[in-house]
Amino acid sequence: MRIALFGGSFDPFHYGHIELIRGALNSGAADIVIVIPTVNNSFKRGRALLPAPYRYYMTKNALEKEFPENVFISDIEFGFEGITYTVNTLREIVKDSFIIPFLMRNGVPGDLAAQRHQFFWLCGSDILPTFDKWYMPEKILSYAVLLVAQRKGDYTDVREQGARLKSLFGCDIAVFEMNGVDQSSSAVKTSGNYDSLPPSVREFIDTHDIYNAVKALDHCSDEACAKYYQFAGSLYYLLGGKRLLHTLNVGLLSAKLAFDHGADCDKALIAGELHDCAKEINMDEQRRLAQAVSGDLFVDDKLLHSPAGAYLAKETFGIEDQEILDAITYHTTGRGGMTVLDKIVYLADKIEPSRTYTDLSEMRRLAPSDLDGAVRLCLDSVNDKFKRKGRAIHPLTVEFGRQLHKEL
Ligand SMILES: [Fe+2]
Ligand SMILES: [Fe+2]
Repeated sequence: MRIALFGGSFDPFHYGHIELIRGALNSGAADIVIVIPTVNNSFKRGRALLPAPYRYYMTKNALEKEFPENVFISDIEFGFEGITYTVNTLREIVKDSFIIPFLMRNGVPGDLAAQRHQFFWLCGSDILPTFDKWYMPEKILSYAVLLVAQRKGDYTDVREQGARLKSLFGCDIAVFEMNGVDQSSSAVKTSGNYDSLPPSVREFIDTHDIYNAVKALDHCSDEACAKYYQFAGSLYYLLGGKRLLHTLNVGLLSAKLAFDHGADCDKALIAGELHDCAKEINMDEQRRLAQAVSGDLFVDDKLLHSPAGAYLAKETFGIEDQEILDAITYHTTGRGGMTVLDKIVYLADKIEPSRTYTDLSEMRRLAPSDLDGAVRLCLDSVNDKFKRKGRAIHPLTVEFGRQLHKEL
């Protein structure tokens, strides 16, 4: 099969990407397109890009809506350490040991998946003038042919550029013509107007309020941001999409609230991000880790992930700071003597943008100016829910509530 690989940061994913994929398929240039969101991009590091899981799931949602077949997404770059170059991704993806099981997982019959494939690197013609400055261009071309989209109104001289690359590297390029929009991610982001994006992308951006929420990183140090990005990649393997995005949202909102209330934004960012890190490991393991942190203080299955999360935060993520570990340990129950950081993570967990379980508008309104007021509302609503369901309220929560209401 002719397999076109399409890498990009997709921040955000837009109609230009969709048209490029559609053009490659409709022109017959490719039978299948594999979309590969970058994780540690070599050109745009750190805060300039959304953390990889947001871009991955935003792209995945859009592809599922736009292309029911023949277009698959790969998370291969989550498995790479450090800065990722195109050549590294290609080297792995063209291996039989990767591509055959990958295609079969995506519904391609085994006999087709095991064929000898021809690989292409799908791109716009705008990359041609600078392609020879990429990291190891000749190696890239040994794995894949450049499959270049020439848009109407595009002034790059593809033939001349193709001849130039041939003289440099002795390779041919493949070209297909396409109509279609030429949207630019950076122009969309700069404008702050997301109306022109595909509906599924708009919905994703709105649900997580992500381009606003991510501004909280401006209040954090470079070191904390680097950790936040790195942990986001590790959490990808620990948590399913919805919960992963929830924990990342809690990290960002915690940092924002810490800024609002004069607390430590770096600690809030990391405590919030890691608060649910143990939630999807099996129950026996959660119980064992919880025991190690806090003995028999937490016995309810629903609470175990809090102390177990603190255990993982320390042992797996290398967090030594006791305030962060405590904020994780008590994010479900609260405790007497809650610190500002504890309250922030507790509250952010319940009101981050993707939460919709009850009317959160008043808590969200209060949160930036009246932390205790918002936490009180939040605790009362949680306690009401417990009572309705006949669940016992943990003694730590009782003490937390008693102190909170006494402070009125
Ligand atoms: Fe939790
Ligand atoms: Fe949570």
